[in-house]
Amino acid sequence: MSRKSVLKAALAVGPAAALLGGGTALARDKAASGRPLTPTPYCDDGDDPTPPQTEGPYFTPGSPRRSSLTGSGSGTLLTVSGYVFGLGCQVIPDVLLDFWQADAQGAYDNIGYRYRGHQYTDASGAFKLTTHVPGLYPGRTRHLHVKVQAPNRPVLTTQLYFPGEPRNNTDTIFDPALLMDVRDGGGGKQGSFDFVLNIQQGGGDPGEPPGGTWSASADYRPGDRVTYGGAEYECLQGHQATTGWEPPNVPALWRRL
Ligand SMILES: [Fe+2]
Repeated sequence: MSRKSVLKAALAVGPAAALLGGGTALARDKAASGRPLTPTPYCDDGDDPTPPQTEGPYFTPGSPRRSSLTGSGSGTLLTVSGYVFGLGCQVIPDVLLDFWQADAQGAYDNIGYRYRGHQYTDASGAFKLTTHVPGLYPGRTRHLHVKVQAPNRPVLTTQLYFPGEPRNNTDTIFDPALLMDVRDGGGGKQGSFDFVLNIQQGGGDPGEPPGGTWSASADYRPGDRVTYGGAEYECLQGHQATTGWEPPNVPALWRRL
């Protein structure tokens, strides 16, 4: 279990443990330092892209662009804010976040778009959702659904959870790595969660390519070895490289050594 998972698991225990502070704030603190980001325990102990979860049966494509979902419902006000990072702890702007959830009574709107909406991270990689606390429905603990997609990257489909929920112990897909940090405030609940997308990032200047001996125009044969982003990779299948097939992106072609 990674350090972040341990922190999240501690949050699941209850409010006293939550006072220790979540893993959620750590990466953004680093990002706000203004210095080139060096690997930190938070970032390089295997942690951990935000894990995927099932989409479930209630996703509707084509949600409206809006960061507030409260317009046509009622319930306990909930804000969820955070940042989207890559594996290098650098924030990612223009990330699409598409949220959907049950209303306060535990019902999904499967005809229209109540409690459905998408937004994009701003230049600092931040997002903020304003909504109501979702209600419970049979078989599940309390949760939000979200799809997260950086520009030209695969979609991460996952769910976010609330600490201290009794059903967290019995919901078979509940994952403590997906617990929000939730506090009372703002006339309701204030949740925070930082997503870590499985995207390699360079170590220093965010605009600097990762570099290495890998070339986007070379032919590679099985057994060839290259470096990329500070790591060494062995070619598994012969291929002609192309942009987008950087070794971290194509595990079928490259094995990290
Ligand atoms: Fe659901």
